[in-house]
Order: sequence, then C-alpha cells, then structure tokens
Amino acid sequence: MAGHDHPFFTLVYRAVAGAGERAGLGELRERALAPATGRLLIVGLGPGHDLDHLPDAVTSVIAIEPSASMRASAAPRIDAARARGIDVEVIDAFAESMPIPDDRVDSVLLAYVMCTVADVDAALAEVRRVLRPGGVVCVMEHVRAPEGTWLRRSQRLVAPVWPRLAGGCHADRDTRSALTRAGFDGANLRDITITNLPPVAPTLVGTAR
Ligand SMILES: C[S@@+](CC[C@H](N)C(=O)[O-])C[C@H]1O[C@@H](n2cnc3c(N)ncnc32)[C@H](O)[C@@H]1O
Repeated sequence: MAGHDHPFFTLVYRAVAGAGERAGLGELRERALAPATGRLLIVGLGPGHDLDHLPDAVTSVIAIEPSASMRASAAPRIDAARARGIDVEVIDAFAESMPIPDDRVDSVLLAYVMCTVADVDAALAEVRRVLRPGGVVCVMEHVRAPEGTWLRRSQRLVAPVWPRLAGGCHADRDTRSALTRAGFDGANLRDITITNLPPVAPTLVGTAR
C-alpha cells in the first residue's frame, strides 16, 4: 500500500469536483483529453471525473492513485468506464515511482495533480520513462500566477497553510518550467483563466511532447 490518504480532503474535493462538472469544468476536461489515444495513464485519478470524458481513441486506462478514499470515490466512474468497454487498471502507487514498464503508455493525463505530488521532477521523469516516444502529455493544471498580480499575492499569502487545508496541494507550482526541465516541449501549452479563483488560478492547458 502506498500510504497516502486525506479522507476529509477527499470528501471536500469530491463535492468541489462534482460541482465543477455541473458548472462546465467537464468541457475543459474534454478539451484537455482530446489528444489522448491508445493506452492512457492518468496520474492522480482522484474521484475519476476524467473517465467520463475520454475520447474514443483511448482504448484502456492505467490510473495511479495513492489515496484509498479517492480510489473508493472513483469507483462508480471506474465501473461506468469498464461498462463502456474500456479496460481500467487502478494502481495504488505514487507518481514518483510508478510500477509501469518503460514506453508502456501512448498518452498521459496530468490534471490537478502536479500541485500535489511531493517531488515534481521525479514524477515527470517517471512520466517521461513510461510514455512511448512520440506520445503525448495532456495537461490541465492550476499553476503559479504571474509575478506582480493579485493572484500571485494571494498564493504567497496562503502558501504556509494551503497544503494542510487542501490535501498537500501547493497553489504556486511552476508546472510549465518543470515540464521543460523534464525534456518536454511545451509550445502547445496555454495559460488560461477559467475563473479568477484565488489561489487556484490560473490554469495551464494543452499538450506537451
Ligand atoms: C486534486 S486531486 C485531482 C484529481 C483528478 N486528477 C482531477 O482532475 O480531479 C489530486 C489527486 O492526486 C493524488 N496524489 C497526491 N499525491 C500523489 C502522488 N505523489 N502521485 C500520484 N497521485 C497523487 C491525490 O490523492 C488526489 O487524488
């Protein structure tokens, strides 16, 4: 067992993610996932809403999720995806050390997870290892706001307490730079604003290869 669980955060995030779906976040998930094909790795499955937005080109899913309560909350969406004929394997592991062979997957989804992994560089090195050459990383992450903005100031203000309130989330991760450091080309990544909700704005969306 990987040994990471925040049951209270799971309850809160499940409600927030469900409300987000009803408010239109599902469309963003669909847009982020559109380039995914073949065997898809989902890093940090959470309550599993991404499973409801898989493009037809995805044939199977390997999902990494170290939290037992999150895996339990994803159960209905895992069952629904399997009922649609998609093979879904859920693995209790951390992104920093994935029990997956080299070049195993055709695409990877990073959705609201790089804020939470303990070691971003180790996690992205693992993503690079398991993604086949030419594969695509689909990205949908809340990230560090530009310096000098009120959003950035709000991120600084809450930084000492936010990880304890939000299951280990760091609201100011520079995920674009981390992807570049890991050797990915981020030319197709865009900084967008879904809503100016501090401290979890702006959002980085697009693909890295
Ligand atoms: C904020 S939730 C996002 C879930 C989902 N990707 C989504 O978009 O709704 C972050 C998830 O990442 C998981 N997580 C935390 N640390 C992780 C790690 N080191 N490796 C993989 N997953 C991790 C958490 O348990 C949680 O389910």
